[in-house]
Order: sequence, then C-alpha cells, then structure tokens
Amino acid sequence: MPLSPTSTPDVHQPSFRFRCIACRDLSDSAGQNFRCAQCGDLLEIAYPGWREIQPNAQRLKSTWRERRLSGDAADLSGVWRFRELLPSIESGEQAITLREGNTPLYPLPQCARIAGVPQLFAKHQGMNPTGSFKDTGMTVAATFARRAGFRWVACASTGNTSASMAAYAARGGLRSLVLVPDGRISWSKLSQALDYGAVTCQLRTDFDGCLRLLQELVLHAPVYQLNSINPFRLEGQKTLAIELLEQLDWQPPDHIIVPGGNLGNSSAIGKALLEMRELGMISRLPKLSIIQAEGANALVRTLRETSGKTLVSVQAETRATAIRIGNPASWKKSVHVLEATGGVCEQVSEVEIAQAKAEIGAEGIGCEPASAVTLAGLKKLVAQKFVKPDESVVLVLTGNLLKDPDYTIEFHRGELFKEEKDEDASALNSLRRPPAVLDATLDAVIGTLEQAEKQKL
Ligand code: F0G
Repeated sequence: MPLSPTSTPDVHQPSFRFRCIACRDLSDSAGQNFRCAQCGDLLEIAYPGWREIQPNAQRLKSTWRERRLSGDAADLSGVWRFRELLPSIESGEQAITLREGNTPLYPLPQCARIAGVPQLFAKHQGMNPTGSFKDTGMTVAATFARRAGFRWVACASTGNTSASMAAYAARGGLRSLVLVPDGRISWSKLSQALDYGAVTCQLRTDFDGCLRLLQELVLHAPVYQLNSINPFRLEGQKTLAIELLEQLDWQPPDHIIVPGGNLGNSSAIGKALLEMRELGMISRLPKLSIIQAEGANALVRTLRETSGKTLVSVQAETRATAIRIGNPASWKKSVHVLEATGGVCEQVSEVEIAQAKAEIGAEGIGCEPASAVTLAGLKKLVAQKFVKPDESVVLVLTGNLLKDPDYTIEFHRGELFKEEKDEDASALNSLRRPPAVLDATLDAVIGTLEQAEKQKL
C-alpha cells in the first residue's frame, strides 16, 4: 500500500553506544552537553555490535538499492534508507522525516576545466528540504530528542541549523529555541526559522558566543541541544557519503572537498568513509580535505601552528556567514579524519570565494558562499599539486543559492567588495551580470541583447 507523503517511518537497526573521542570510554547514555563523564571530551556514536553481526557489504548495498523502489516513508528518506549504519530506534517508533537526502550528484565540466581536473562533481546538499545539508542530521537528532521525551529543542546557529531544526521540530510536534548572532545571518535563513514557528533570539554576540550560551542553557533548562556536538546529528550527516558512494557505484573518488565551519560535517563524512571501509563497502579511502575562509581559519591555524594538537581560536569574519565561526566545536574529530584519510586543510580569500560561487552558478548550479569555498580551495590544491591532473574530485555543496540572495545580488551589482585590488576586480568583472534597468521598449531590450552578444556575456 503506498504511503502518503506525510506518513512517518518505522525503522529498526543494530544497537549503539556513546564513545569518548579522547579516552574511548564507552557508555549507554550521554549527559545534556554530550561530553564524556570521565574526561569531558566530545562523544561519538559507536556500534560495537557490528563485530558480532558482521553486516554483509554486498547484501547491504542490494537492500539499499531495492529500497529505492519502495513507497515506505523510511525508504523514501535518503537518510533512513541507510538505517543499518545509523543508531537504532525501537520497533514501532516513528522517525521525524521530510524526505531528506536523495540529493543529486552533478558533473561540473566547466568548473573542472577552470580548476584543471578531468572529472569534477558537485554533491548538492542544498537540494535538501530546508535547503542545506543540516536536514540529514536533523532527522536523526530530532527523532532522538523526541524519543528522550524532550518538549524543547535548541541550537546556536549561523542560520542553516536553525532553519532545519525549526522545521523538524515542527514536524515532530516539538518546540524549538534558536540562538543566532544579531544581524550576522542571512534574512532568508532567519525567515525559515520564523516560518517554522521557532522562538528566535538574536543575541548581541557572534556564533561562538551563541554556542557558549547554549552549553550553559542545557545545564539549566530542560532543552535538548541539536548542534553538531550532538552525535546523532553526525550519524545522519554520514549518509551524504554513503549516498555519494552509491551514486558512484561504490568507486571512491580520489578527493572529497568540504567547507569547514564548526567542523561537524567533515567529521561526519570522514566517519562514514572509515566505517564503509571497515565494513568492506569500499576498498580505498578518498582523501577528505577541508576548506575554510581566510577570516575564519581556526583549523588551518591549528594544523599549521600546533600540528593539530591545540585549538587556535580566531575572531571570525567573512561574508560567507554560514562559516563565520572562530572556535569550532568538532575540531578534534576533523583533525582525526584528515589524518585518517590523508586530506589537507586550506584557506581561501573573500574574492576567491565570490569568483568560485559565480563560476559554479554559471553552470546552472546555485550554491551559497560557504559552499563555494570548495571550488576555490580545489584550485589551490591543484596549484599545490596535492590534487593531481588525472584525479577525480567531488565538491560538497552545503547550501542552496537562495539561502543568501543578498550576497549574490551585491556581487553582480559590484557592491560586494569595496576595497578590491585591481587584478581581483578584473577577474570578477567578467563574471558579473548586473541587472539592466531599461525603458520598457523593444529597442532597449534588443540593444541590451546585442551588447551582451558582442561582449560574449
Ligand atoms: N556550509 C554551510 C552552508 C553551513 O551552513 C555550514 C555550517 C557549513 C558549511 C559548515 O559546516 O559547521 O559542519 O563545518 N553552518 C552551521 C549553522 C554552523 O549553524 O547553520 P560545519
């Protein structure tokens, strides 16, 4: 019987435990701050049962493929379709889902030529229900919030997490509390949180200040935190990598490149790659590399100045507001996945981000500025010969173009950078398509058309 789009799935998978990323202590429960009771470091989800049941890689792959034909709500979700690699919920319990995941993998032939690689793909997580990769993690974490009996969920956010959390909370009958930096998030993300009924606080601080406050709040009020410190979020976000490998017929690309902010997503993708190798689904690991904005480069500095041993926090500043984060919570997890996969961390300038965003846009694939750091970073990694001329690359585009329309409009109108250097400006000018304000006459429009043809615009 086909299920209606609003029906929710009933899923069950193997059991899990919480494991500390530092002292490796295993526990069956986690405190409200999701930190290890022994040493205070972050927790991750572990599946000790895998050793006994030894999931069969071939069988899992064919089960997941078969589910693509199913009308069951759990199978229609591009997250719960992979439920064997996710934390279990009880039989009969329902997941909160908006049919997240199932995102396209687009070839980017023009950007490949620009970057100097033969094969370039974009895994577009901006095609999720609320327009960002956050939805894949939120379906899992919101489900566990409800299961734990909470009425309220909360997050600190640069915008996308709050939009996603508010939507999943509303779908699941939960109340949501959003803490965002006042004036430093895009209006479209804020509007989503409002529309989905969140109680929204614009705090006079930055993202890092919002997250600090949330850590205190969860110790004083019965709210369940849905930031990526919450390890259930990262379990859902793992499915990006699983779905990607399935789309590539389980042939790993040479490189996966992802933006880095609070560093949850890179950690989740890396965890998925390591687990897939452990289960025999892939025989080699892609190199997972992380790109940050120069003005929000805590991980770059941590690796360069302390070899990844101590976090170097920064006062973050970038127009890619989604990644305007100076004190990334999951930095240790991401250092681990960089080391385990052989990836690197690089930084890119504001002009490089704007140029890359316009180049991706010119292929008919819109993304938000934070996502465009991936193409800008790829160009640098090719120049450094870290990415070789014959290697395949997947860029993870994390957010939809419509998440930050102000940025795009300011770019095309030439208003984005006030103090551009000449050489930067000329690189950008050829990509700018400012709207023409004209009299409503045939001559005016034909004149504009002819001029565009002449300038090869
Ligand atoms: N790209 C976009 C579009 C984002 O919204 C974020 C993070 C990132 C990249 C970085 O991912 O934090 O996992 O390293 N946005 C968060 C938010 C912090 O609140 O929406 P990360």
